[in-house]
Amino acid sequence: MDFSNRAQGAYPRVRMRRNRSDAWLRGMVREHTLSSADLIWPLFVLDGENKTDSVPSMPGVERMSVDRLVAAVAGAAELGIPAVALFPVTPPDLRDETGSAAWDPDNLMCRATRAIRDQVPGIGIIADVALDPYTSHGHDGVLDADGRILNDETVALLCKQTLNQAVAGVDVIAPSDMMDGRVGAIRDALDAAGHQDVKIMSYAAKYASAYYGPFRDAVGSGGFLKGNKKTYQMDPANTDEALREVALDLAEGADMVMVKPGLPYLDVIRRVKDTFRVPTMAYNVSGEYAMIRAAADRGWLDLDKIMIETLTGFKRAGADAVLTYFAYEAARLLKDG
Ligand code: PBG
Repeated sequence: MDFSNRAQGAYPRVRMRRNRSDAWLRGMVREHTLSSADLIWPLFVLDGENKTDSVPSMPGVERMSVDRLVAAVAGAAELGIPAVALFPVTPPDLRDETGSAAWDPDNLMCRATRAIRDQVPGIGIIADVALDPYTSHGHDGVLDADGRILNDETVALLCKQTLNQAVAGVDVIAPSDMMDGRVGAIRDALDAAGHQDVKIMSYAAKYASAYYGPFRDAVGSGGFLKGNKKTYQMDPANTDEALREVALDLAEGADMVMVKPGLPYLDVIRRVKDTFRVPTMAYNVSGEYAMIRAAADRGWLDLDKIMIETLTGFKRAGADAVLTYFAYEAARLLKDG
């Protein structure tokens, strides 16, 4: 596009404010619109019955037992939210070195999936794949004697976890572990077991970020985590590398790719969208939620306005959908106008 004055004219004949004069016109020339169909709601599943537990570092987010979770998911479906992303709060005594609860057919993820399938038909169920909610050390993979994360051994376990969740009835497998080669291995494992229609939303460009702190509190792995995740998650200083990660995941069979975190990485979303033109998801992560919530709770920001502005920003950057803890509240706002 040629933005030179010669092509477009200039002041005083051109006055940009004319198209901003009235609400009807602002609406008419609006380039991006946010709707509930753009929102994916991440939810934390709690053991037990009739239980709700708040997350201190994420005010307003409730971890829920399966029965209560199903009611919340039904509410989300009514508001037009297309999918939920599930994460388990594994009781500490069920955690071990390899994260074996991840392939227990009666684990929280499978129980929640079956209940949602049964009681809220039609909503998409996205299941996280990574070992950190299940391991005693809080890492996404298994460790060798020196504490290094083993890639190929981990990928084999991620495939077991995947099949367990596919049998329970999830629609989308979302590997968030950042092991090399896991998307291809997961695709092959799904296909070999007859799950050709289960989709893969890969956390393709996932950065080693301090913005995940509140999430680790929520799933209860923060206290366990030794060291950091820098040997598998990406360096926040890189963007060319994000394109390579996305290219590889697509080549391995990912149906959708994700950039994570969101707000500090809008440039990465834009580059991924422009380069590949594939369904691109953004994760507005726990720390981003916590920052906004904390400021709003102090009366420093207008929560409703900030929510819509922030989520619209993701769409403007090129995201097709946003995983956000604000999904339910934002969908309610969008419905009420
Ligand atoms: C772990 C996982 C994390 C998140 C989603 N899956 C945290 C991590 O990598 O340590 C973060 C989500 C958020 O912060 O909202 N596999």
